[in-house]
Amino acid sequence: MSAFPYILGIESSCDDTAAAVIQNHKILSNVIAGQKIHQSYGGVVPELASRAHQQNIVPVVSEALKQAGINPKQLSAIAYTRGPGLMGSLLVGSSFAKSLSMALNVPLIEVNHMQGHILAHFIEDAGNKKPRFPFLCLTVSGGHTQIVKVNNYFDMEIIGETIDDAAGEAFDKAGKIMGLDYPSGPLIDKFAKEGNPEKFHFSKPKVDGLNYSFSGLKTGILYFIQNETKKNPEFVKENLKDLCASIQKTIVDILMEKLLKAAEQNNISQLAIAGGVSANSEIRNRLKALQENEKFEVFIPKFTYTTDNAAMIAMAGQLKFELRNFSEITEPTIAKYPI
Ligand code: KG4
Ligand code: ZN
Repeated sequence: MSAFPYILGIESSCDDTAAAVIQNHKILSNVIAGQKIHQSYGGVVPELASRAHQQNIVPVVSEALKQAGINPKQLSAIAYTRGPGLMGSLLVGSSFAKSLSMALNVPLIEVNHMQGHILAHFIEDAGNKKPRFPFLCLTVSGGHTQIVKVNNYFDMEIIGETIDDAAGEAFDKAGKIMGLDYPSGPLIDKFAKEGNPEKFHFSKPKVDGLNYSFSGLKTGILYFIQNETKKNPEFVKENLKDLCASIQKTIVDILMEKLLKAAEQNNISQLAIAGGVSANSEIRNRLKALQENEKFEVFIPKFTYTTDNAAMIAMAGQLKFELRNFSEITEPTIAKYPI
């Protein structure tokens, strides 16, 4: 038997079926099967997502084991996403994980998906720098936008969050208005690179404290584009890059403002980002720029660990394994699972 245990992570909370193997905090394999089927629907269709997970789960797990160069009997534990997410999607990964842990007679470890996003910062990767406790993490995905005070691996407090749409939704809905495919975040990011972020101005929400709101911005973009399109039907086509750059800048401005406020109020200078929207080049650049003024230390995840993946679930699983924090197979999946 190897000195360090192998742990399998399984993620199926939304529209990506993913499996990864970790050993001694290092990722040995990280396999993801995305689901193109949702592109033309402008969002994830839950029933189609669970069907695709059913088809993908066995090949994805087999491939993760193969790429790690191990057989199932060498696994010491199985970690899986218990929630939050779409119930039908979660059930595929959790049922598979539970069955495998029973068949192999190894412990089962449940993981909170949002904690997983944050804990991806602790993956050992060529001597990468890791945050020390406490730090703040801006967790931005298609379903969540939260400022989390991370006191310890499994001691996290939400100190600010969106009162309506998530930042990823703001990107996706703005993209839909402009006729872009789902998910639009990566496309807006791509077009924005050649656009002028100062060309169009959208009003920013006025929300108290450290909370966010994105639904007003979405409506503002919708009305603005509808108006301009009445005058010129080619408006979006002719201005796509500038629209993308301006929308992206507005979303990132909103995100950064509250994150900096949270840092000041809590007197915390270590800032991290996590979740799908942390793949965005503008937010990555703005954080890197902060690092240069030396007041802050910033932690930006490797691109592969930003959008949904199982490496982050395996990492959280590894940390729980070390604490002997195991789960029962009777524990149900939870669609709304607080961090
Ligand atoms: O974390 P994630 O993969 O899934 C959820 O748990 O929701 O996040 C997906 C979200 C989508 O809204 C997608 O548009 C957004 O992350 N996203 C981006 C970028 N890449 C993914 N948003 C802006 N810029 C990107 N480069
Ligand atoms: Zn996610």
